[in-house]
Amino acid sequence: METPRTPFPATGYYGPKYFCDRKEELDQLTKNIKGGNSTTLVALRRLGKTALIKHLFYHLRSKYLTIYMDILPTESLNNMLNRLSTAIVSGHPEKSAFGKKVWNVIRSLRPVISYDALSGLPQVSIKATPDESRSSIEELLAFLEKQPKPVVIALDEFQQILEYPEKQTDAWLRSIVQNLNNVSFIFSGSQQHLVADMFANPERPFFRSTQFMKIGKLDEGTYRDFIIEKFKEHSKDISGEVVTEILRWTDLYTYYAQLLCNRIFLSGGKLITSETWKDEAAKILKEQEFVFFGYREMLTKPQWALLKAIASEGKVFQPTSYDFISEHSLGNPATVLRSLKSLMGKEMIYREKDAEGNSYYGIYDVLFGRWVGRKRD
Ligand SMILES: Nc1ncnc2c1ncn2[C@@H]1O[C@H](COP(=O)(O)OP(=O)(O)O)[C@@H](O)[C@H]1O
Ligand SMILES: [Mg+2]
Repeated sequence: METPRTPFPATGYYGPKYFCDRKEELDQLTKNIKGGNSTTLVALRRLGKTALIKHLFYHLRSKYLTIYMDILPTESLNNMLNRLSTAIVSGHPEKSAFGKKVWNVIRSLRPVISYDALSGLPQVSIKATPDESRSSIEELLAFLEKQPKPVVIALDEFQQILEYPEKQTDAWLRSIVQNLNNVSFIFSGSQQHLVADMFANPERPFFRSTQFMKIGKLDEGTYRDFIIEKFKEHSKDISGEVVTEILRWTDLYTYYAQLLCNRIFLSGGKLITSETWKDEAAKILKEQEFVFFGYREMLTKPQWALLKAIASEGKVFQPTSYDFISEHSLGNPATVLRSLKSLMGKEMIYREKDAEGNSYYGIYDVLFGRWVGRKRD
């Protein structure tokens, strides 16, 4: 496995050494798989779903065939077929015993094979109608079903299948998944889509068909120790208090905490103080400004006003209350409701429950929140 540029990668997975905790989640996922059950994995964006799947696959790799597919870029069943074929062959050179068999099956589908210029990995492209795509996917899954090793397939950003022009792809997939014994699945995505649309609605085919798993933020103490340790391994000194400040500023949000630590690491010094991280944080916000102005461009005035209002409050429990609306000059409740809906649709804000079970709205982009200048934590 490759070594990351710093001990705090903000993209990708580089092995257990750079991965903090998630022991319970790993255990639970492993149990589900051993029991032949599929799992629906949900979390807010950028908390660590994809990294957790990679971490799991790292641990399964000797006993299982693992197939990871990010289906966000796919727009049809044909695209899905190509993703699946590519995912199956990319980890298995033709020389290996499994590779030989799998390449035979894929070749029978008359693919065009190209090689990615950067990674050198094969890309499979099969031209097929929706019906042909469906039956080819079934054929590939039937092939995996017959393998001596059990198979785990992760479909990351699973909600994307709802965008396919082919109707009822979920019903079709559900019926196949149900009949496979040697293949289990992990369906992963952001919770608002998956929960609301696919797995929690009794009228949908996937309703209650999988084990449900939601991941939250890392435990603060565990993450703090992990960060101190990683700096120490490179002879950099940082106190628990300073790490706590970093974790507060980034809201304990994995991606943002990693990003900030990554930058602090690169900034050079041996002793990391409050000043060190604040300097880096300020630089990041400066660099991100064009992104924030981009939000303004793409939103209507009421949406932009609401986004800023939520960002400045951190958590908003009653967005249509008189106090909130008048404090931020948001017009009337109907306008706010409309804007909430479209900001949710654009995945700029999310709805969550706090420890007491009260729903609130928060914004995804922690940096934007800091840029707007949050009032309370
Ligand atoms: N447990 C972890 N320990 C260390 N870094 C992590 C952990 N989980 C996620 N990350 C980092 O945070 C980034 C964002 O996580 P990711 O898995 O892409 O989130 P999601 O798939 O939920 O959007 C990852 O690229 C990875 O670098
Ligand atoms: Mg992801």
